[in-house]
Amino acid sequence: MYRFPLIKVRGVPLRCYIADNWDSICAFRPDPSDILIATYPKAGTTWVQEIVDLLRHNGDAEATSRAPTPERFPFLEIHYPPPIPSGLSRLKNMDPPRVIKTHLPFQLVPKGFWENKCKTIYVARNAKDNLVSYYHFDKMTLIQPEPGPWDGYILKFMKGELAWGSWYDHVKGYWKERKKNNILYVFYEDMKENPRREVERIMHYLDMSLGYDVISHIVELTSFKSMKENPMANYSSMPTPIFDQSISPFMRKGEVGDWTNYFSPAQIQMFDDDYKRQMMDADIPFRTNI
Ligand code: A3P
Repeated sequence: MYRFPLIKVRGVPLRCYIADNWDSICAFRPDPSDILIATYPKAGTTWVQEIVDLLRHNGDAEATSRAPTPERFPFLEIHYPPPIPSGLSRLKNMDPPRVIKTHLPFQLVPKGFWENKCKTIYVARNAKDNLVSYYHFDKMTLIQPEPGPWDGYILKFMKGELAWGSWYDHVKGYWKERKKNNILYVFYEDMKENPRREVERIMHYLDMSLGYDVISHIVELTSFKSMKENPMANYSSMPTPIFDQSISPFMRKGEVGDWTNYFSPAQIQMFDDDYKRQMMDADIPFRTNI
């Protein structure tokens, strides 16, 4: 396995294997019953996937233990070198309704998702924690470019040069479209603050109604501690040539505010000044400095 270079698709840097298969990804036609979980990488995708799967299986942990995360939730655009199956080939072998994962920015998602009014949950995480999490992920993901030194990584994030592009454009793109396309916009920080409230929000969005005890059980099963120990959710099944969890575990810290351990005062100043500029046209209620 090698560290894939990034290639731009309509201005967005993507792993070269995704760019090489772009036409087939664009041509994907979802079923109206499919559920899309969209995120910028490291915003809490896996957490929400697990919640949705448990909701759909009435909190039954045995049902959700049927396979590891990447097999249960096809990753729409993912392409590895053969023989590892692509997201599209996994989708072909699975009957709807499916829970599909994407990191594509709104404008690159195949139009069929919006035409078919597929339910879409977008998870967003405050920029600084998202950046710190991505930095560790890029160290251990041996198929993305190496992160390089921390100070340079911050600049790459600010300039939108990491895989899947600009965090700023990503969170703004889905925010702008959320009403028109009935997208549920969820914040990682809200999930940490009150997981039950957010599980219930997701449940109502999916037109489901489960009892109090089942929801309590789902909240427990999707706590950071439970998921870190769950081999079907912690990516321990991912082969080492792709993820090397001895460098940094996939379930790393699961906290809000870890960024304070990484940013120097000068980096905070630089980042915040730039953040104001990049986010001035958006009114997204991020709770950034917590
Ligand atoms: P950290 O690196 O900050 O620990 P994604 O699933 O989008 O790749 O996001 C991974 C991030 O979400 C990691 O953040 C991971 O620890 C965190 N995460 C995963 N499951 C979680 C949970 N149940 N509770 C809190 N954070 C979780």
